[in-house]
Order: sequence, then C-alpha cells, then structure tokens
Amino acid sequence: MTAVGIDAIEIRTGKLKLDLANTFAPKKGEDPEKYTKGIGLKHSSFPDVYEDIVTMGANAAKDLMDRTGLVPDDIGRIDVATESAFDNSKPVSTYIAGCLEQVYDGDFHHANKGERKFACLAGTQSIDDAYNWIRAGRNRGRSALVIATDTALYERGDPGEATQGAGAVAMLISEDPNVVELSTDQGYGSADETDFLKPNQQFPSVDGKRSVQVYLARMREALEDYESVAGDTHPDDFEYIPFHTPFPGMVRKAALLGYRHMTRGTDVEDALESEIGRQPREADFDSWDAYEDAIRDYMDDLKETDQYSEWYGHAIEPTIDISSQVGNWYTGSVHIARLSALRSAARKGESLAGKRMLVGSYGSGAQAEIHAETVREGWKDEVSAIDVEDQLDSRYDISYDEYELVHDVHNHDKEVDVEEFTQPDGEFVFTGWGRMNERR
Ligand code: HMG
Repeated sequence: MTAVGIDAIEIRTGKLKLDLANTFAPKKGEDPEKYTKGIGLKHSSFPDVYEDIVTMGANAAKDLMDRTGLVPDDIGRIDVATESAFDNSKPVSTYIAGCLEQVYDGDFHHANKGERKFACLAGTQSIDDAYNWIRAGRNRGRSALVIATDTALYERGDPGEATQGAGAVAMLISEDPNVVELSTDQGYGSADETDFLKPNQQFPSVDGKRSVQVYLARMREALEDYESVAGDTHPDDFEYIPFHTPFPGMVRKAALLGYRHMTRGTDVEDALESEIGRQPREADFDSWDAYEDAIRDYMDDLKETDQYSEWYGHAIEPTIDISSQVGNWYTGSVHIARLSALRSAARKGESLAGKRMLVGSYGSGAQAEIHAETVREGWKDEVSAIDVEDQLDSRYDISYDEYELVHDVHNHDKEVDVEEFTQPDGEFVFTGWGRMNERR
C-alpha cells in the first residue's frame, strides 16, 4: 500500500509577541514563574491589526506552495480547520483560495473546499479526511492542503488569558510523503462536555480547571481505544509523543498519565517497583476514594523517578519548545508540537527515518484522538527548510497598553482605530470586512 501522510509543512505566527513574565505578570500582580514554570509559557503570539485567520492561513499556504513548487492544479482539496471562523456559511478555505488565486496562474475551481470544526481537534480531523480521500482513490493524483488557523483569544481577566496565541499551520497531505506516514490505527475518546464552548460569541466560556480534567479523561479513553486496535503500548515504542498543547503545563499532566498507562505490566514497571512500589490496582482497595488517593501518591512518586525524567526529557520536552514561545494555536497546536520535536531532532542530528511517533490530539466539547505516525526519509530536509526561528525572533514585542488595544481590535464587537505595529512584507493583509484580502 502506498504511504499517505504529511509531505510538507509551513507555519505563520501572528507578528506580535506578548512577554508573559515581563509584561503580562506585573500587570496581573502574579509571580512571573506562575506563567513560565507553572503554565510553561514564555510568550504568546498575537496577530497584528492587518492579520487574521485568513491572512495567516493564506500566507502559510503560499509559503508552502512556493517552496515545494506547487501550482493550483496540484491541489484537489483545501480544508481549513478553525474555531475562530467569522462566517457561518462560506468556509474559510474559499477566502484562502481567493487570496492564493491572486498570485498564481490557474485556480482552485476543481478543488473540493470545506471547513472542519471540532475545537482544537479539527486540524487532525482534516488530515484524516484528506488521508481517507486519497486512500479512497478520489484524488486523481492530486494532494490535499490542510490549513489549521486560529486566533485563540480569551476575555481579559479570564484565567485562559495567559494561554492565548495566534497562528496557522499549512500541511500538504500526499502519497509518498516526505515528513510522516499516517497509520490506519486510531483510538478515540469522545463525550458531550460543556467545559469550553463559544455559542455565537467571540470569546470562549471556559471552566478552566474542569477542562483540564476532561482533556485527561478523553485522552486516557483514546489511548485505551488505540490499544484495542494497535495492541498494548510501551514507552519505548515511540520516539516522540506530541500532544495537543494548550499550554505546556497541560502536556506535563498528559505525559504523566500516558506514561503510567503505558508502563502497566511492562519491564519499566518492574524496574520502578523497587523504588516506588507497584501501581495501585483497584481490586486492592475498599473504596474508590482510597484507590484514587493511592494513584495520586503513585503519580507524585513516579514524576520524581530517573526513568520518568529521562523518558520525559527525550519523548516530550522537545515537543513543547515552539508552543512555549507562541501559546495556544488551537487547531494548529498539536501540529506545532510534532514540528517542534522534528526540528529538535534535526538540530541534534538524530536519525529518525522509520521511527514512530504517537500523536495525541484533543478538542474541547470533547474528543481526543490518538494515532501513530512513521517518520519518512525526507523529514530532515523538509523541517529544516521551515523558517520557524526567523518568524518567532522577528515578532514585535508589545507593551501591555498595546496588547489591550490589539486585543480590542480582534474582538469584532469593537471598531478600534489602531496603527499597524509591523510592516507587511509581501503578504496577504486584511483590509476590512466584506472586502477582498489584499497582498502588500
Ligand atoms: P490558573 O487557574 O490561573 O492557574 O489557570 P493555576 O493556579 O492552576 O496555576 C497553573 C499552574 O501554575 C499550577 O501547576 C500551579 O501550581 C502553578 P499545576 O498544579 O497545575 O501543575 N503555579 C506556579 N508555579 C511556579 N511558580 C509559581 C506558581 N503559581 C502557580 N509562582 C487554567 C490555569 C488551566 C485554569 C487556565 O490556564 C485556563 O483556563 N486555560 C484555558 C483552558 C485550557 O487551556 N484548558 C486546557 C485543557 S482544554 C484544551 O486543551 C482545549 C483548548 O485548547 C480549546 C479547544 O480544544 O478548542 C483550550
């Protein structure tokens, strides 16, 4: 069977940067380490006044098409994953295709376009749709463009405010891909939840603490479901485990839960036994509360072991580097985590081709999806060609007052007249509602 997966990737970060320790924390009267250590974020990316989900998505897609030499006829499908859409009828992919058609000969008139929604999970779901389309033989030799683009903004004063972010990830899904091959094994954990929602409102209503528990519960279910098709997992099976990263502190919790689950009944558990004892088994306890207390104690001890630290440092830490500098990109977040791990491996000169990653995607509302991917021969050239550091380093560092202004601009309820903080540099720009996005 021909391999199908991610062939090329490009990103576009919002061009503004909010420094959480030095700009945000003092205004909030908080210890900077709450953000840098507890939540795990140094900076958030924000869109400048001429950027939005369309311009970031179109700019990322254009970078990808230019670098890989693609023309519109090579693309048979454009899916946009977003939870920041502004149009309940016309999908964001049509706006992005409109931008791209301004600069290429040819058009996307024969490409199937759509918009996918399931909170942050929709980026992965769009990749799944593209995979299925290619596997079904409906692609006529063409590739699919998947664009995960979001402005993850919270109301000022909401605990989620510290985790904001904005950016787009464009991914090309093709046969014989360069970066990763997707496996057919998948697991899901899904339930109707109301901890994070945006019913006809700009900012989400969030029960932050509960959302953390819901994320962990759905992720555990997805891992169990994945194992029911792929067989039991072992921590050493996967080189990297990129998780959906609303903030790196969330990934620390998910990784610990995953490690505990994957080590049950394995040689790792045997090795840990002399140090911290066997994992609690429900049958050994009189009550559920006593069992839960024992698990909590076990997890606290597990976190401190050398085995866990080594595994975390190798399999998880490299996945959160970019995220710690940009905040939550919602639909793009797990794809940033994958890219972060691959770029770290490229910098360290690791040989990854043929090795596997386990990818844990999640969307509030709520659903987790776990699948495996195998790294392909062309991964290093591809990820090394993406100008991640240049984009992150050239962001404009906003003051707190500028942050409040730009936050108001992106709250569509208000018309705020604000000068641009950065200069457009041969890119698509937002020129007003109901108008065509221009290139400047
Ligand atoms: P909070 O309640 O303000 O923070 O916001 P906290 O008091 O829980 O502190 C956060 C961590 O910092 C804690 O660590 C503290 O101990 C630590 P933990 O105990 O959790 O390991 N801390 C410190 N560490 C060092 N030095 C200090 C210090 N002070 C505290 N001085 C909350 C946290 C999650 C509620 C907030 O960020 C929030 O509401 N976020 C938005 C919702 C969210 O991101 N939820 C995550 C799961 S849901 C999800 O991922 C889906 C999502 O992406 C949306 C979608 O799918 O569409 C959000």
